[in-house]
Amino acid sequence: MPADRDDEQLPQAQDSLQVRAYANLALIKYWGKRDSRRNLPATPSIGINLSALQVRTDIYPDHPEARPSTSGAAHKADAREDRAAPEDSSSQLRLTIDGTSQEPERHQDFMTAFSQTTGYTGALRAESSASFPAGAGLASSAAGFAALALGCSELARRHGAPRMTREDISALARVGSGSAARAVIGGFSVFPAGAHHATQLADAAHWPDLRVVIATVTTRRKELSSRDAMERTRLTSPYFGAWVEDAERMADEAERRIAARDLEALGELVRASYARMHASMLAARPPIRYWLPVSLQVLDACDSLRRDGVPAFETMDAGPQVKILTNAEHVDRVLTKLEGISLAGTPLVSSIADDPEVLS
Ligand code: PMV
Repeated sequence: MPADRDDEQLPQAQDSLQVRAYANLALIKYWGKRDSRRNLPATPSIGINLSALQVRTDIYPDHPEARPSTSGAAHKADAREDRAAPEDSSSQLRLTIDGTSQEPERHQDFMTAFSQTTGYTGALRAESSASFPAGAGLASSAAGFAALALGCSELARRHGAPRMTREDISALARVGSGSAARAVIGGFSVFPAGAHHATQLADAAHWPDLRVVIATVTTRRKELSSRDAMERTRLTSPYFGAWVEDAERMADEAERRIAARDLEALGELVRASYARMHASMLAARPPIRYWLPVSLQVLDACDSLRRDGVPAFETMDAGPQVKILTNAEHVDRVLTKLEGISLAGTPLVSSIADDPEVLS
């Protein structure tokens, strides 16, 4: 390309960076906020990063001359907790996902927290692409905000801000999406009720033969976001209190079952967690139902597999997709069982991934 004066305004090649993050599947679900303004969860959740569901994000500083006012001036992560950002201190983000521009309002709180945490006030451009359908209930927001938080923190570091800890990056990701706090932490992570960040329970090597079969029922975008759905559940469902009350005990028990690598015992809790979460939203006004007829066919298939002695423990999130927890030995049995069901594409088989990474 011929060089001309405009080239000076373009990001420098060495200024851009690329990160990879994974969708995070909750074995024990987060549903409902204790504090909506700070995006703190009402229930503890336990999640795993899924190697088969990846998001790659390229981050560019839009104006290389707009350097951060960093040099050791970074605040503790979670600056958003205590004070509102002055209007002009927030970085601006232009984000595209699979080539489609995103509404800047969705990222404003995140960018404000990022600026306050790192002191970086330049404008950014991020281009994200997912290996799976976005917005269909496959935790694309968890992977997306984990990638953004890691990428932005690395960009700020390359421009002089102190390196953020994994927990600080998790707290930053949480401002964008609660489940993203877990996606920053690889392997098995726990995000306690009311906490600002997730922490690691065990890395991926703890349970190498654990697998998740992802049955995509439809690639259509969901009409009701998890953020709106959980808020409606909190405000209108008479079962929300019971859901929250029970969640702590389930999470403690799940931690023990993960430590023991007991798939049958963990699977039983995984099923109870998603079923109770959906029961709480079915009782909202108006009721929230993400399940489709094909989702139920997959649930029936799991029942039938378990009756035949195959470990197949389903879970569902804010969407119609079904994810099935099993082990490497039984993946083929699960896939064969799904063959008769009209899914939106071949099921994906995932193992557990470690932390998201900076690739370049
Ligand atoms: O991260 P959010 O705000 O999209 O909420 C995620 C909610 C669930 O996916 C349904 C459960 C979870 O813990 O990931």
